[in-house]
Amino acid sequence: MPPKTSVHGTWSTRWAFILAATGSAVGLGNIWKFPYITGENGGGAFVLVYLFCIALIGIPIMMSEIMLGRRGRQSPVNTMHTLAIESGHHPAWKYLGIMGVLAGFLILSYYSVIAGWALEYLTKASSGDFAGQTPDGIKTLFSNFIDDPKHLLLWHTIFMVMTFIVVARGVRGGLEVAVKFLMPALLVLLIILVGYSMNTNGFGEAVEYLFKPDFSSLGWGSVLTAMGHAFFTLSLGMGAIMVYGSYLPKDASISKTTFTIAAADTGVALLAGLAIFPLVIANNLEAGSGPGLIFVTLPLAFGQMPYGTLFGSLFFLLLSFAAWTSAISLLEPAVTWLVENKNMKRVTATMTAGITTWAVGILTVFSFQDGSPIKFPFNFVGEKKENGIFDLLDILTANIMLPVGGILIAVFAGWIMSREASRDELEMGEGNAYKTWRVLTRFIAPALVCIVILQLFGLLDPIFALFAPIIDLFSK
Ligand code: PHE
Repeated sequence: MPPKTSVHGTWSTRWAFILAATGSAVGLGNIWKFPYITGENGGGAFVLVYLFCIALIGIPIMMSEIMLGRRGRQSPVNTMHTLAIESGHHPAWKYLGIMGVLAGFLILSYYSVIAGWALEYLTKASSGDFAGQTPDGIKTLFSNFIDDPKHLLLWHTIFMVMTFIVVARGVRGGLEVAVKFLMPALLVLLIILVGYSMNTNGFGEAVEYLFKPDFSSLGWGSVLTAMGHAFFTLSLGMGAIMVYGSYLPKDASISKTTFTIAAADTGVALLAGLAIFPLVIANNLEAGSGPGLIFVTLPLAFGQMPYGTLFGSLFFLLLSFAAWTSAISLLEPAVTWLVENKNMKRVTATMTAGITTWAVGILTVFSFQDGSPIKFPFNFVGEKKENGIFDLLDILTANIMLPVGGILIAVFAGWIMSREASRDELEMGEGNAYKTWRVLTRFIAPALVCIVILQLFGLLDPIFALFAPIIDLFSK
């Protein structure tokens, strides 16, 4: 039997959970990653696929993950173990939890390096470095920065220490308080930035770029990236939301909280796109320029707008906070597992997990410089010719580990757990809402993820060939 409450604590209210889970979901994924992968994958069609994935895959899986967490009330590893036994299945389901812990380590290792960029840009913004800069000047500022591994390592270390401090203190003490003020502030700043971008002459074109789909340029690699990003941005498939769910009071509605979190997360990503692409267009920048995109576009805007130093500093401060509240949730599953299974104190567990992640992060630090030894001369997905460790980790985690973890979570919630158990936990009655969740979780979400992954290797080509005449009919 699972314990009645988690040994690690519970959230004080349902709102604390919503804020913490939103803090986990809203992060670099929304403001840094979403704009640059949208630019790399051609805009509108990619955004549309991403929105579909949020609705059809992300939302049902988030409900499943919270549900499993709250029912198991332990680390993802032990939650899966206990719930599998409770439903009369093999305890090997715990390996799903272990894969999640591993994915969390790998993601945090590079996430922390990029969060370090935000910290560096906070200092740059506040010392007025962007004022009056030309696009070329701003680009040079960025490339000089990432060419300097010592600098990157310093910020990566500082960010890991920040994450360590909150996780070691327990989630309730630090996190709840921080998230309550910072998330709304970030939203306000994003809206100010969108307001600024609306007055540049690229706004109309940017809206069209983001919302007018052109499917002719969308390959399966891009569809996989859009789907992987739906998991990444909602923090799904690795146990972060499961562990947060394990601290959730029994009287909170899982469906309502899920909708709130998903809406906030998607809203922030779309606002970030609306703030950034007008600047890209108005300044003739390259939309597909990769991970440096926001570190080039936004400083340009801050350099030109009134009170740019103030707004720029505030923006990078809030971006760092958003990254911080996500990083905490990436480490939490590993820490709970070490506490429960290795008998460690929370501080020791955090230190063990934190130092391991920090060490893996050094690989990312050394993967951005020209001529860096850690590059692979082959393509994983897409057009890029050279890939660093950063790209490898990003693709392995976001495009493979999270979707695979996600389907297994859906399969467990939809097929392994009994109907009574999920109905009891979700408390939606037997009506259409529950039935929709169950169909999405049992069939639609796993099928969509499988189709995208199989097709990436061309395995479904024969089936698509059968449907080609029908598809042709519709596209005429
Ligand atoms: N959702 C976070 C973001 O968008 C990243 C994250 C992924 C956090 C997976 C936890 C788990 O930045």
